[in-house]
Amino acid sequence: MKKHYLPASLALAALLAGMAANRGEAGSLTLKDAYKNDFLIGAAINQSQFYEQDARGVPIIEAQFNSTTPENILKWESVHPEPDKYAFDAPDQYVAFGEKHHMFIIGHTLVWHNQTPRWVFQDTNGDPVTRDVLLQRMHDHISTVMGRYKGRIKGWDVVNEALNENGTMRKSKWETIIGDDYIEKAFQFAHEADPDAQLHYNDYSLEDEPKRNGAIALITKLKSEGIPITAIGLQCHVKMSRPTPEQEDATISAFAALGVKVMITELDVDVVPATQRNRTADIQANAQATAGANEFTNGLPEVQQEALAKRYAELFRVFVKHRADISRVTFWGVTDGDSWLNTRGRVDYPLLFDRAGKPKPAFDAVIQEATPQ
Ligand code: G3I
Repeated sequence: MKKHYLPASLALAALLAGMAANRGEAGSLTLKDAYKNDFLIGAAINQSQFYEQDARGVPIIEAQFNSTTPENILKWESVHPEPDKYAFDAPDQYVAFGEKHHMFIIGHTLVWHNQTPRWVFQDTNGDPVTRDVLLQRMHDHISTVMGRYKGRIKGWDVVNEALNENGTMRKSKWETIIGDDYIEKAFQFAHEADPDAQLHYNDYSLEDEPKRNGAIALITKLKSEGIPITAIGLQCHVKMSRPTPEQEDATISAFAALGVKVMITELDVDVVPATQRNRTADIQANAQATAGANEFTNGLPEVQQEALAKRYAELFRVFVKHRADISRVTFWGVTDGDSWLNTRGRVDYPLLFDRAGKPKPAFDAVIQEATPQ
């Protein structure tokens, strides 16, 4: 049990004041060291990082993180753009980078409705393929991609975002052509390709009750059928005020009770106030207009920096409480400048390192929540 000798808010204020002067100095505590008795600390990385071209990002990755996820290059459209063409250069480099830095390497993602080329679902006339053809393509993709990194990529997001906000199955091409059991098949193919790999179901907004209940029903069903699912990935693309720590707490408890590991797989905190349409991690929803949402284009004011630090502290307090069930917490990006949340005119500040690579007050707040060594 973590011991706070001051009320959390006072402890945080004192810490922020004390650490502001030496934040980021050589020799100060790193995320992966601070959390070494709690869980792995990961970051999603991009091509310029694993090719070691990003002089700002690479030293941060080396120093701070002991797990890594590829932000884009293992998605179907990147790694398997044409029926007979796999593009393994970038994934090979990603895995080599992870090994060089002794990181726990994650694969993201095998079966998803987004970033999957049209040809996957069509025959040469452009008509939908049959269930059997699509299952064969899914099988071949999973066995080729996972097989190549067998024993090296330790955990895979096998199925990504299969649920609607109301907890029902998303009517993706996977679901409409194969049926609901496309999920079972994907996990079976993945287990066949690498029996030692951890296999995850990964989704966003699972803190919202209807969607959470849908995921609980899905995992319960998979487990009862003996499907080799080992973890649930809570993406945690969160806002400043939602989900609440209580929702996060209840969500982690609910999934842990099912007998799967819980992973926080894509953590970031959107500090730009939400607009009507920009409420989830759904890519289509986020592609809509976000007019009026770019109010911090010239920098994040101090008051919001402190609020972000408090927000990160309250989230990590919940994660640490569940350290027995959480195996990894991964941030979706390294510095604020890398984040997917900056698109479409928004300038966001969702991570622990600013655009210059300097740790923010939120970094100190996260360090403070780790279980003392
Ligand atoms: O690679 C092309 C490049 O050749 C082209 O010039 C450029 C022009 O737009 O696009 C580039 O591709 C972009 C790609 O990121 C790489 O930068 C895609 O358009 C863009 O849609 C893609 O966005 C990614 C998004 O997933 C969709 O795949 C984001 O970087 C990535 O952060 C985001 O991550 C997702 C997770 O995989 C699943 N959960 C939600 C999360 C956030 O949306």
